[in-house]
Amino acid sequence: MSPILDNEAAWLDSPSAYPLRVGPGPQPDPADDEVVIKVAYGAVNPLDWKLQDQMRPIPTPNILGADVAGTVVQLGRKVTRFHVGQRVFGLCNGLIINKLPNTGWQHYSTCPEIQVCAIPDSLPLANAAVLPLSISTAAMALFVKLGLPLPSFDPKSTGKSIVIWGGSSSMGCTAIQFAVAAGYEVIATASPANFELVKSLGATHVFDYRDPDIVGKIARLLKPGESIVDCIASTATQKTASEILSKIGGGKVGCLNPPEGSFADNVELIDIFAFEPGLADTHIGDFIWRTYVPQAIAEGKLKAKPDPMIIEGGLGKVQEGIDMLRKGVSAKKIVVEIAKES
Ligand SMILES: NC(=O)c1ccc[n+]([C@@H]2O[C@H](COP(=O)([O-])OP(=O)(O)OC[C@H]3O[C@@H](n4cnc5c(N)ncnc54)[C@H](OP(=O)(O)O)[C@@H]3O)[C@@H](O)[C@H]2O)c1
Repeated sequence: MSPILDNEAAWLDSPSAYPLRVGPGPQPDPADDEVVIKVAYGAVNPLDWKLQDQMRPIPTPNILGADVAGTVVQLGRKVTRFHVGQRVFGLCNGLIINKLPNTGWQHYSTCPEIQVCAIPDSLPLANAAVLPLSISTAAMALFVKLGLPLPSFDPKSTGKSIVIWGGSSSMGCTAIQFAVAAGYEVIATASPANFELVKSLGATHVFDYRDPDIVGKIARLLKPGESIVDCIASTATQKTASEILSKIGGGKVGCLNPPEGSFADNVELIDIFAFEPGLADTHIGDFIWRTYVPQAIAEGKLKAKPDPMIIEGGLGKVQEGIDMLRKGVSAKKIVVEIAKES
């Protein structure tokens, strides 16, 4: 394996440094169970601006970014599921294990093999880049924390419903599809402009989250013990989710941001963390990443949504992408073209 000596990265040099600085990047040196990807596209996540803005302190200098899509260029000794030259997407775990080569905003990103997935020819790399973090986050919320049955290609109805609050968000789009594939009826919220998208992903009911009677309308559709995944998880949405479940006698809310405030006694708010090690080393992570997702994408049963909003221009454009996401998006994922597809 010849060493990669020309890597470049977008660096966060110090806490809150702005803009990110493009400069020489770390040399990839994959462990036995890791894959090195030549990145064509990376997707921006709220975590990027939250970390740059020091909402969660991280050591610096550092490299942000988690979602990448590109081509395999190196394989760890034990990796047999992929080959060099294959189109893949991956979830970078560098910010969790504190390893710079395993971060996203660089030309060569290293990912754990379990969180890499082959991309069928029919799916453009830019679209595939929207998926990785949402796969782990939705799986953690639904299958690890809320205990839904694992998704199936021929789901049998469980007769149960689940609320996906924020159905048009990046995390919501995958959560809806996973919940439907687990045999659940999905009740989602979104702006009316995104109702069609959310329904196309399998939601049965969609409500405008600004509706003054949203609590009553959703509570009337739920049965005791049913759950909510709050993909927005602001103070306001956590409170609303708690009120809905309180009305039906209690239940669990999977929260994509840490619960803040006090909630009804019979409602449990569960903090979801996509990168929790459990996902990678339990049978759930194995099934989702190695079995379900590759086949579901190949068969068009898992759609890469929302659509990417592509910014061309390489690593120097990552800051622009982060700034755009900081202002907010509606049913779009900001994806930066890091290099022309080779
Ligand atoms: N815990 C974890 O491990 C983890 C992992 C990933 C993300 N997150 C967090 O999860 C949150 C969502 O991330 P994301 O990337 O999915 O966000 P995103 O795609 O950028 O979210 C944009 C969407 O949010 C929707 N939205 C905004 N306010 C809403 C509200 N009050 N109710 C319902 N929908 C609302 C908008 O819907 P409309 O346009 O239809 O109005 C829009 O489509 C972020 O806070 C992020 O930090 C956590």
